[in-house]
Amino acid sequence: MDMSSEQGVQVPVAVVTGAAQGIGRQIAEALAGEGYALVLADIKEPVETLAAVRGMGAESVAVVGDIASEAYADALAEGVHKQFGRVDVLVNNAGVSLLTPAEATSVEQWRRVLEVNLTGPFLLCRALGRMMLEAGSGSIVNIASIAGLHGVADRAAYNASKHGLIGLTRTLAAEWGGRGIRVNAVCPGWVKTEMDAADQASGGYTDSDIVERVPMARFAAPGDIAQAVAFLADPARSGFVNGIALPVDGGWTADASWTSLRLRKR
Ligand SMILES: NC(=O)c1ccc[n+]([C@@H]2O[C@H](COP(=O)([O-])OP(=O)(O)OC[C@H]3O[C@@H](n4cnc5c(N)ncnc54)[C@H](O)[C@@H]3O)[C@@H](O)[C@H]2O)c1
Repeated sequence: MDMSSEQGVQVPVAVVTGAAQGIGRQIAEALAGEGYALVLADIKEPVETLAAVRGMGAESVAVVGDIASEAYADALAEGVHKQFGRVDVLVNNAGVSLLTPAEATSVEQWRRVLEVNLTGPFLLCRALGRMMLEAGSGSIVNIASIAGLHGVADRAAYNASKHGLIGLTRTLAAEWGGRGIRVNAVCPGWVKTEMDAADQASGGYTDSDIVERVPMARFAAPGDIAQAVAFLADPARSGFVNGIALPVDGGWTADASWTSLRLRKR
């Protein structure tokens, strides 16, 4: 693990998983803009994100590996401790999608989605949470989904993983809130990223399916999610917010209108 920063950095430190692209990249840039040093975790080299946040003046390191691995999570935490001596924010953003009918989902597919989307965040919460507990402060933001709040067909493993992630969020909020650690989740609606492009390419849905369903008549932008994360990360702005699952969905989960009614209101 290459963490080439100087020992004992004084600026707040944020770990962002899945930082190589999409929502994770925007989160990293938003936190860099707020003065955090960044640890960028991804299964692939986050080359562009690293260049972007360094270009913004943020001290940053990349730690490449699989978040579903216990050894990786523990080594990442050890490296952060050694190089920075602190961790203020953990954003569990890395995730994988799976669009398959439940009856056609293999146990290998099911396990992998659960491993990446739920076990990985648990392992990082555990490893970095120990450092936060020792310091008596910290903020963890888990990127769930509106699929963690409602059922959506053809997503048994994905939706179960996101429901589980919200359950983990609430439990850790209850368990660690009294010791200074806040744990919250952000639940994006559909966001224009490579995950969306791949899901659409597999025939799952089209742009108009999503736009018609959302009261605000658009996809989320990665920046919409990043700003919600920046809010929840910052104790000055959200210091008494703990255990929420915040939809950032343009009103999707609030809206039980039928489609023709919704469209008549535009
Ligand atoms: N795009 C959407 O519509 C949408 C909606 C709701 C929630 N989300 C959630 O937001 C998060 C980010 O999604 P995105 O759209 O930016 O996806 P994306 O596929 O564009 O990016 C995901 C990133 O996570 C990394 N990653 C995947 N598996 C990993 C692993 N095992 N270890 C480490 N890194 C890994 C990938 O390399 C990639 O850089 C995910 O948790 C996703 O479930 C996305």
